[in-house]
Amino acid sequence: TVIHYILRDGTDRAVDAKDGASLMENAIMNNVRGIEAECGGCCSCATCHVYVDEKFAALLPAPDEMENELLDGVAAERKPTSRLSCQISVGPELDGLIVHIPEAQY
Ligand code: FES
Repeated sequence: TVIHYILRDGTDRAVDAKDGASLMENAIMNNVRGIEAECGGCCSCATCHVYVDEKFAALLPAPDEMENELLDGVAAERKPTSRLSCQISVGPELDGLIVHIPEAQY
């Protein structure tokens, strides 16, 4: 499943992502800069913030209550397309997904 991580400088890092792992885990495995993931994916740090491209936003299930609360505490501006990348599991239905790395995670 190909995921495009758009870095802060606009570079498109296309990654051959592993299905069943999260967007965050795939970013770390592929050395995508700008996703910190301090808590290691247990949905408590909000340093794995990404903006999901609008075209794909509808493909994803809505954030649960815990993710929604944490999103209020992200370092960069929270937008309607803001998500925590550790809470999104990669699968074939997301092939071609584009996510944008925010300006800051702290
Ligand atoms: Fe900590 Fe996602 S990795 S909330």
